[in-house]
Amino acid sequence: MKNDILKVLISEDEIKEIIKRLGKQITKDYMGKDLVVIGLLKGCNPFMADLIRQIDLKLDVDYLAVSSYAGTSSTGDVKIRLDLNQSVLGRDVLIAEDIVDTGATITTIKKLLLHRGAKSVKIVTLLDKPAGRLMECYPEYIGTEIPNEFVVGYGLDFNEKYRNLPYVGVLKPAAYEK
Ligand code: IMP
Ligand code: MG
Repeated sequence: MKNDILKVLISEDEIKEIIKRLGKQITKDYMGKDLVVIGLLKGCNPFMADLIRQIDLKLDVDYLAVSSYAGTSSTGDVKIRLDLNQSVLGRDVLIAEDIVDTGATITTIKKLLLHRGAKSVKIVTLLDKPAGRLMECYPEYIGTEIPNEFVVGYGLDFNEKYRNLPYVGVLKPAAYEK
């Protein structure tokens, strides 16, 4: 699998540092609040697991599965594949995403959760690809910005593969043809 990687964009150590910083900030900002961290499956998986352990608060976790991607481009049509199993009514929600690209996913989910009565809805994303934006949206917590390249690893996939890489990297062109 690692043979398919052209370059490492964000190393394991860098990811660790980023998540420590995010966890500290979130702990400070949500002190005394009724926090629910909602991960967007499947991409959030490693990020969510590491992030919640850096947040020193009594919080709830839940998951939503959505899909909008086919291959390397967003279809823009966001569908809920798996819903929450608790109410967000009156609660402070933090959505955990692997990457914000066009903005379609988090814009849709944010609207949905506010419609369901969440007191607040904010976004934490490991990666931000601002050049890919088709909708105006500004995640409150950003791990790091990346250029407009397709990346894999640490939860991010290409056709469901490479999610288990411990870092974020760019694929060799040949890997797309496999
Ligand atoms: P958006 O709705 O266009 O903002 O896309 C968000 C979702 O698209 C993310 O949760 C990812 O699942 C996927 N995505 C966007 N960019 C990439 C990428 O570079 N690699 C892998 N998945 C991506
Ligand atoms: Mg995702």
